[in-house]
Amino acid sequence: MATAKIVYASMTGNTQEIAEIVQEALEDRGVETELTEITQAVAGDFQDADICVVAAYTYSDGAEGLLPEEGMDFYDELQSIDLTGKVYGTTGSGDRFYKDFATAVDMYADAFAQTGATKGAENLKIDLAAEAEDIEHLEAFAQSLVDKQAELSK
Ligand SMILES: Cc1cc2nc3c(=O)[nH]c(=O)nc-3n(C[C@H](O)[C@H](O)[C@H](O)COP(=O)(O)O)c2cc1C
Repeated sequence: MATAKIVYASMTGNTQEIAEIVQEALEDRGVETELTEITQAVAGDFQDADICVVAAYTYSDGAEGLLPEEGMDFYDELQSIDLTGKVYGTTGSGDRFYKDFATAVDMYADAFAQTGATKGAENLKIDLAAEAEDIEHLEAFAQSLVDKQAELSK
C-alpha cells in the first residue's frame, strides 16, 4: 500500500481543512496517510513516504517573505534533502485580495523540485476556505498524486 505524508501550516484553519480534505481523498484511494502540523515535522520525515504533500497558507508582512514564519525551517530543510523516487504536490489557502496570491504554494513546490522528487499534481491554490468546487479540485489533486505514484512504482 502506498503511503503519504501531509505537512500543513495553518493560522486560521483554512489550510488545515484543505490538508484534511487531501488526507481523506488519499485514504479513499487506498493510501495510508499521516498528517502533521509543520512545527511538529522535519522535512526528512518525507523519506518514509511515497507521496509527499505540503499545504501552506501565504502570509506577507512587508519586508519578510511570503511563507508562514513557522514553516521557514521546514522550507530550508526541504531544499537540502534527496527525495528521488517520491511524488510531491503542494496546495494551500491564500486570499485573492493580495497581489502575491497563495505564492507559498509555489515556493514549496520549487523547494520540492530541488529534492529530485517527481511532481505529481499541479500546484493547487485555494481562495480562503475550500468550497464545493475546491473540494473537487482537491480530489483531482489527490487522484493525480496517486496516479503518478502508481506510474513510478511500475
Ligand atoms: C497579515 C496577513 C498577510 C497575508 N498575506 C497574504 C498574501 O500575501 N497572499 C495571500 O494569498 N494571502 C495572504 N493572506 C491571507 C491568508 O493566506 C488567508 O487568510 C488564508 O486563508 C489563511 O490560511 P489559514 O486559515 O490556513 O491560516 C494574508 C493574511 C494576513 C492576516
